[in-house]
Amino acid sequence: MSAPNPTTKFPLANYDRLCFLKNIITNPNIEVGDYTYYDDFETVENFEKNVRYHFDFVGDKLIIGKFCMIASDVKFIMNGANHLTDAFSTFPFAIFGEDWAGAMEGRAYPRKGNLIVGNDVWIGYNATIMAGITVGDGAIIATNATVVKDVAPYTIVGGNPAREIRKRFSDDTIEKLLALKWWDRDIDWITSNVQALTGRNFDDLT
Ligand SMILES: CC(C)(COP(=O)(O)OP(=O)(O)OC[C@H]1O[C@@H](n2cnc3c(N)ncnc32)[C@H](O)[C@@H]1OP(=O)(O)O)[C@@H](O)C(=O)NCCC(=O)NCCS
Repeated sequence: MSAPNPTTKFPLANYDRLCFLKNIITNPNIEVGDYTYYDDFETVENFEKNVRYHFDFVGDKLIIGKFCMIASDVKFIMNGANHLTDAFSTFPFAIFGEDWAGAMEGRAYPRKGNLIVGNDVWIGYNATIMAGITVGDGAIIATNATVVKDVAPYTIVGGNPAREIRKRFSDDTIEKLLALKWWDRDIDWITSNVQALTGRNFDDLT
């Protein structure tokens, strides 16, 4: 049995705008699972540029699972983007120094935690996902969505702010899929089940 090699940078012949994403990541605070791919209209180098406000001194992580599909212009807004929202002014006086340097004494910018995308998640063109969000396994993020709340597994969300459009399957099927975790099976099992995984009959899985 043979499967595509997840360490291949560009898995499509003669096409360098789609990559198995983990192979182009240089930032140690971005983790990506096997087979997750990124497709960009111009160059796949745009992926890390679109992980915005991601500063080493903050140390927050973007963690993306396996077998995700990420479209062009998808943006991840990390914690370095946050200003104070509960102060009289949101202006970051302290960063400009001089006698403003102490403005943040005893205060800290809001940190919402790591941004986590599960497995088998499809993120549509130009979607934006905010810091601290967890997107569940099997979710779909619609084109142009702005995701500001966690997305439950196997749920389609869209709009700004993104709202649930619908669940992809019945609760019973979602439970079975979450127990199966097909993306963690060995690659030969996945390979022998690609047709069943591309269908919707649970009993076809071996
Ligand atoms: C989310 C998506 C998968 C839904 O597809 P679908 O199941 O065929 O959905 P429908 O077109 O039947 O629309 C279902 C509902 O979602 C809404 N909807 C669809 N796309 C939406 C979007 N991008 N933003 C907000 N709402 C959206 C529709 O208005 C409709 O609402 P209603 O039920 O109130 O009438 C699809 O619209 C989408 O955004 N796909 C991503 C495409 C993409 O960016 N691909 C990148 C290359 S891989």
